[in-house]
Amino acid sequence: MQDLRELQERIALIKDEITGGIESLANSKAVYDFKKNFLDPKAGKISELMKSMKDIPAESKAEFGKSVNELKNWALGRFEEIDEQLKAKEAKLRYESEKIDVTMPAKHIMTGYLHPVTQVKNQLIDIFASMGFSVYEGTETETDYYNFTALNTPNDHPARDMQDTFYLSPGFLLRTQTSAGQIHVMEHQQPPIKILSPGKVFRADDDATHSPMFTQMEGLVVDKGITLCDLKGMLEVLCKRMFGENATTRLRPSYFPFTEPSVEVDVSCFECGGKGCRLCKGTGWIEILGAGIVNRKVLENCNIDPDVYSGLAFGIGVERLTMLKYGINNIKMLYESDLRVLEQIND
Ligand code: PHE
Repeated sequence: MQDLRELQERIALIKDEITGGIESLANSKAVYDFKKNFLDPKAGKISELMKSMKDIPAESKAEFGKSVNELKNWALGRFEEIDEQLKAKEAKLRYESEKIDVTMPAKHIMTGYLHPVTQVKNQLIDIFASMGFSVYEGTETETDYYNFTALNTPNDHPARDMQDTFYLSPGFLLRTQTSAGQIHVMEHQQPPIKILSPGKVFRADDDATHSPMFTQMEGLVVDKGITLCDLKGMLEVLCKRMFGENATTRLRPSYFPFTEPSVEVDVSCFECGGKGCRLCKGTGWIEILGAGIVNRKVLENCNIDPDVYSGLAFGIGVERLTMLKYGINNIKMLYESDLRVLEQIND
């Protein structure tokens, strides 16, 4: 390099270039790219000036170096300044675009939950599982044998009229009761047996409290020395867990072909505490299930010796229990899938 005057001119030119160019930079990325033109260690214009130091006569080196350093520091300062300004502008724009109005009403988010009948079914399973029952789910289609004959209800038995059956073909039907599962279990397992069999059952019955499809929960215990006392004890636990500590049960004589003796089980009215109200029709009691001691003939049909073993069985209507629990007077409400209704019957 030539003389110092020429250097001063070049410095002035670079300064002009930077001052002019900096105005049009739009963002910090542009600052970075523009800065490279001057300060890139290889090709930057200021870096090149530095490199030409070697051509400067010794006596001018000090002044030359000082001027270029000043230029470099000035340029760095300018770039930093503009970079800060642009970054602040960018941040402001981002804050503006991402601004949230916290006073706006919140979005309503629908959450799903189990159907009330499923909730009650699960609650029953939990209660009985805690007493040592395991779950056996039978099939919804059955043969006449498992649904009726093996349950001591032969073809001409009047008890067949108790349940209006959907026949699929002669000998095949949609099960009318989960009791059919008892036979399957006893055929495959010798006592002790302690099972719970929940599932859908079907009957040609349709009014405010009956539906052609509903859910039952069968219980079966077979062992040595099982009596009605065991049944009552278990059902007391069930009622207290389901309806509260003050709930009690009573057994009334009834009839089912597959149990002898047979009972209908009532729970003390949880609405009025037994005084008598609309729910219990003034009686203080509400019927909740059918049960009994397994008929000897049923055990014999499954090759279980009734002189050694005895059993108890019960059948709970899950929709009925759900309706009682939530005060629903029409079973259709449980099946219409109207969310306005279902949302009100959720624990
Ligand atoms: N299966 C009977 C019904 O559907 C209920 C029941 C089950 C009764 C077990 C006694 C024992 O009506």
